[in-house]
Amino acid sequence: MAIKPGDTVLVLGGCGFLGRALISELHQRGYVLRVVTRRPDRHRDLLVFPRLTVLAGNVHDDQALAQFARGCHAIVNLIGVFAERSPQEFRQVHEDLPMRIGRVAGGRAILHVSAIGASLNAASACLRSKAAGEARLREVAPQAIIVRPHVLYGPRDRFVCRFARWLRWSPFGFPVPFPDADLYPAHVADMAAGLGRALALVRAAGQTYELCGPEAVPLRHAVEAISQATGLRVSARPLSLLTSRRLAQFGARFPTWFFAADPWWALRDAGPCGREALGFAALETEPRPFGTALRDLLPRVSPAR
Ligand SMILES: NC(=O)c1ccc[n+]([C@@H]2O[C@H](COP(=O)([O-])OP(=O)(O)OC[C@H]3O[C@@H](n4cnc5c(N)ncnc54)[C@H](OP(=O)(O)O)[C@@H]3O)[C@@H](O)[C@H]2O)c1
Repeated sequence: MAIKPGDTVLVLGGCGFLGRALISELHQRGYVLRVVTRRPDRHRDLLVFPRLTVLAGNVHDDQALAQFARGCHAIVNLIGVFAERSPQEFRQVHEDLPMRIGRVAGGRAILHVSAIGASLNAASACLRSKAAGEARLREVAPQAIIVRPHVLYGPRDRFVCRFARWLRWSPFGFPVPFPDADLYPAHVADMAAGLGRALALVRAAGQTYELCGPEAVPLRHAVEAISQATGLRVSARPLSLLTSRRLAQFGARFPTWFFAADPWWALRDAGPCGREALGFAALETEPRPFGTALRDLLPRVSPAR
């Protein structure tokens, strides 16, 4: 089931944050890459990779999906959404698509990226739909490799870089919902290295991996570390559990607002990787510590703002 250099890999969602890091990793490993996006004009820079083709199309169309997958040795699915912009988007993207990919793949290798905390009982609708998608994929493609990453950071991420932007606008302190929620942030390049390794390993077929960064970082400490690394020195203002819950419930009505409920529930519920779960070590990858990587990631900004 493992693939070898020269094989063709279809990467769905390859133009996103994790996708770009993974493309670089897979290209280095010698694969021929086919990347699908809805907006190819925005991703012309990827054409610097000589063995990569960018395809435009709709992955939610069965015929188009089969066409993209024709002749490929493996399919990687990185398509995901953090907040629903239309009703049923979680269902379409996280539940239906993995199953349709499994059907199209037949017995071919599949690497499917889910999320840590995926559970049918999660408070976050995103994590519930991720769990349902994993189950539907396994039914049709037991050979699929499923990976559940913890929160990712790296250049142009939605975590460190976004918090750094928000901090600039919070001169009197930054309110932190669920301040004691433990995160295990992983650098996107380490995640890409782990995923690349999984795809090349025969024993990875049919396994589920939980990939967490090496240390627990409570959300309030993450905010403080980001604040320090930017040089802004904005203090974190932890919110009580009750206020956090009320804000998240209120935010459920505003899916794209700062306090949009679902991403906060997802952060709160992410939890650590399972003790028994296969992790980075099983993929012979050593994730870097959060603190040291932060200093390289965030150029210091003027404290004067
Ligand atoms: N980033 C994290 O901290 C994190 C943590 C845990 C799990 N994950 C999972 O890792 C995967 C990749 O995450 P990411 O951070 O790279 O996300 P991202 O930057 O938002 O990229 C997601 C990709 O999905 C595609 N996409 C989004 N909505 C779509 C839709 N309705 N139909 C078709 N394509 C759609 C986009 O493709 P286009 O090029 O067409 O726009 C985009 O390239 C996701 O499944 C995510 O849930 C991420």
